[in-house]
Order: sequence, then C-alpha cells, then structure tokens
Amino acid sequence: MSTDTIIDGKAFAADLRGRIAASVPNFVQHTGRKPGLAVVLVGDDPASQVYVGSKKKATIEAGMASFEYRLPADTAQSDLIALVERLNADEQVDGILVQLPLPPHMDDKAVIAALDPAKDVDGFHVVNAGRLAVGEEAFVPCTPLGCLMLLKDRMGDLSGKNAVVIGRSNIVGKPMAQLLLAENCTVTIAHSRTQDLADVVRRADIIVAAVGRAEMVKGDWIKDGAVVIDVGINRLPPAEGETKGRLVGDVAFAEAAGHSAAITPVPGGVGPMTIACLLRNTLVAAYRRAD
Ligand code: GUN
Repeated sequence: MSTDTIIDGKAFAADLRGRIAASVPNFVQHTGRKPGLAVVLVGDDPASQVYVGSKKKATIEAGMASFEYRLPADTAQSDLIALVERLNADEQVDGILVQLPLPPHMDDKAVIAALDPAKDVDGFHVVNAGRLAVGEEAFVPCTPLGCLMLLKDRMGDLSGKNAVVIGRSNIVGKPMAQLLLAENCTVTIAHSRTQDLADVVRRADIIVAAVGRAEMVKGDWIKDGAVVIDVGINRLPPAEGETKGRLVGDVAFAEAAGHSAAITPVPGGVGPMTIACLLRNTLVAAYRRAD
C-alpha cells in the first residue's frame, strides 16, 4: 500500500503488467499456445488508432498473441458481425475487443451482443453487465476495474465508505458503482442532472470522476482526506506559445491535491491501468477457456 498523495497509476500498471507477463509462460507450457487478444478497429478515428496501437504493443510485450483487424469506416454492420462470429469460433482467440465508438451507421449494442460473453474482455456484453450486477463472476470493464485496484491499494477495506461516482456511462460510471457497492460502499451516482453536485461530492470519502468535462470538479468540493480517482482525459485549448493544449482530467488537480489524501494525475493515473486490466481479463479468459 502506498502513501504518496499522488497515486502513480503508471507504476502500478507496470507492476501488474509485469506479473501478467510472468505468468504467461505457464499458460503456454500447459496449452501449447499463447493467450490471444483480437482487437477490431472500424474507421480512422485518430484517438482510437492510438488506443488500438497501445493495446497491440502491450499485448505483445506481455507475451500474448495480438490479432488486429482494421476495417474501413464504410464497412457494413453485417460484415463486422460476421468477423466477430469468426473470432468467437477461433480457437486461438481468447479475448475480443471492438474499439468504440463505431461509425454512426452502426449500432454498438447489436455488435456487442454478437460477442461470445466468454471472450468479452471489455465486459460490455449484457450478460457480463448482468452478472456484475447480481454478484456473479463476470468480465468487468477495464477502466473501472483499474480504478478499483488503485482504490483498494490506497485504502484497503472500502466497507462503509461514502463513494460518489460522477458519470453514468455503461463503460465507466455504472460498472464503477456496481464494483463499489460490491465492496460495501454507500454509493451515489451523480450525473448531468444532479442538483447541488458540490454538496454531494463534499460528503464523499471516495470520488470517481468520469464525466469528460475539463476540471469540472473543484478543489473546495473535496472533503479533507478523501481519495480522488480522475478518469477524465480532456485536452484544453492551446495556451499562448503552445501548439497543443494540455491534457487535464475532470478534476481541478492542483486545487484538489491540497484537500485529498490521494489523487490520480492525468496523464499517468487511471489511463495506464485500463490496458493492464485488459491484459488481465485476456489472461483470465484464456485460463477459463483452457480449463
Ligand atoms: N473506447 C473507449 N474506451 C474503450 C474501451 O475500454 N474499450 C473499447 N472497446 N472501446 C473503448
């Protein structure tokens, strides 16, 4: 358990990746093959291209097999679903990730529904979301899983803590709230219609901010001694003399650091944990399929 005010997600993720990589040879020895992750990218969204590139690199560095599929933006949804079905049936593939967002002519839900839940290492399929909600073994979305690991490392037992999750997306906010509930927190989910957000946040021992609005959570909203997990990655407009604006989170970091017991920075906090947890889920999927 670390005690620094700034939570070093990069170091935590590097350690987790190292432990995953160290256990891959055991899998290879028992099965005669590597754990395999298939990543599907449709279109040429620049941010998605960067994410998919990082996922491939991390997969290979962990000693796993990476299968990459880049499809043009005008791919028919039926062709994407046909690819997902081929990957479902492919013995070499343990995990399948379809990078979101998909182009506007596609229905994310229909594509995710085509995934075999046993290979859904993103934890987006309704079967995995439902299993998480009812307390059964499930693939949990990688970003909230990474947030929970950082919280437990910092705080130990979370039982009875007041937790506020700001944001209610299916990818982060909702599964984060389920995970905290399973840890016996008293959970509040705040969102764009929440009244008196500052007052809600002031009661929290744990704040997870996942709204996608630059520095929206102010320092004086943070109770002294609270732990803050900032999922946001927002680029500010360039200041004078800058070509690119700075990356900031959903929390006003410098102000909040003065109140919190611990806070994740942006970048270098939650971001690196997402990929480490994807590798973790892929290894778990591989072992479950091999058993
Ligand atoms: N787009 C943004 N985050 C994610 C993620 O965790 N998984 C997938 N598949 N797409 C994303």
